[in-house]
Amino acid sequence: MEIIREGQIKLKVPKNRSLSKKDKIFYNPVMEANRDISIAVVQGLLSDYKREDFIVCDPLGGSGVRGLRYAKELINPSGRVKVIIGDINPNAIKLAMENLKINDMENVEIIHKDANILLSENFRTFNMVDLDPFGSPNPYIDSAIRSCITKNGLLSMTATDTAVLYGTYRKTCIRNYDAIPISGDKELAIRLLIGYAIRMASKYDIGLKPIFSHFTDHYVRTFLITERGAKKADNSLKKLGYIRVENEEKIIKLREKGFERGFGGVFYLGSINDRDIVKSSLKVVEDRNYSERSKKIIKEIYEESALSDVIGCYDIHKICSNIKELAPPIHELINRLKEQGFKASRTHYNPNGIKTDGKVIDVINCIREYNENNKY
Ligand SMILES: C[S@@+](CC[C@H](N)C(=O)[O-])C[C@H]1O[C@@H](n2cnc3c(N)ncnc32)[C@H](O)[C@@H]1O
Repeated sequence: MEIIREGQIKLKVPKNRSLSKKDKIFYNPVMEANRDISIAVVQGLLSDYKREDFIVCDPLGGSGVRGLRYAKELINPSGRVKVIIGDINPNAIKLAMENLKINDMENVEIIHKDANILLSENFRTFNMVDLDPFGSPNPYIDSAIRSCITKNGLLSMTATDTAVLYGTYRKTCIRNYDAIPISGDKELAIRLLIGYAIRMASKYDIGLKPIFSHFTDHYVRTFLITERGAKKADNSLKKLGYIRVENEEKIIKLREKGFERGFGGVFYLGSINDRDIVKSSLKVVEDRNYSERSKKIIKEIYEESALSDVIGCYDIHKICSNIKELAPPIHELINRLKEQGFKASRTHYNPNGIKTDGKVIDVINCIREYNENNKY
């Protein structure tokens, strides 16, 4: 064992860290940016919070790092932050308890319990539930929704089964998420996960509003706010639909119009980032000097959130290979598209991608124009 520091806490972690072997206690330093971003997003939301208690449940807690950081680093301007950390693995619980002791905090409770039992025992209790499983959050989404308060509750989740959400394992995606995936655009993986969570919540007359999402390394992460009532649930459902990709263009069809052969989905089609919350999260990571990685990711998301109603991006290398043109620098194409009156930005999902409200033909024209003007 060794003691390390992450954020504002000290942490006892195994020297010989393992990523997923059964019975090994989990601490993944690579996920520090994930945790930094999580705290920043939640703190951004809390800036004008009016309730005395903000209760967080981290039911898949591992070493406790995430829950302990929430307990130490989140500031509720109207009162307290309380955190409940759970895990099914007794070794993880033992370590989480030692970590709690080292950090000497009174606002944390650690419970040795299956996540679904812990969540089900706490109906409509938590202001926030953070699902951070190995693989898919799917087995816990239903009970997480039931354990969250129904208005302005926050449900955040990590999914590391990205190959499933991204379409590499189509059959598994249909089985696990009741949706047909589309590969080639990572944003669609997030939209599929959100679409699934919205369908899970709607049966309880709860709507879900996405406020922040990212796809980093081997995982996707999303933050959803609960909205109470049948109308809110219906509004969320109205934003679901099917997508077909034709010549790099995304053809969209609303779910309420019915499924059509050749389309993938169900996907969430609304905006996935709330620009104001992204902005306040950016301020938090900068003020607190969190990891450079977290700053970079949030900055990129802030840029692309100006086009939050645009679904996915155009992969410039793919388009150039199809039309047999050299790929111009991305920033040149973005400038050109903007000069022509389109909105355009980079996207954190793809270094070769451009998000724009232009059509693929507009992008192709810009590519050809650039190459024409830059002949040797
Ligand atoms: C990815 S790790 C959690 C990592 C941690 N949240 C962090 O940020 O470092 C997933 C954890 O879920 C625990 N787990 C797996 N199945 C569970 C279940 N059914 N109930 C509760 N905990 C479970 C594992 O023991 C493991 O510690």
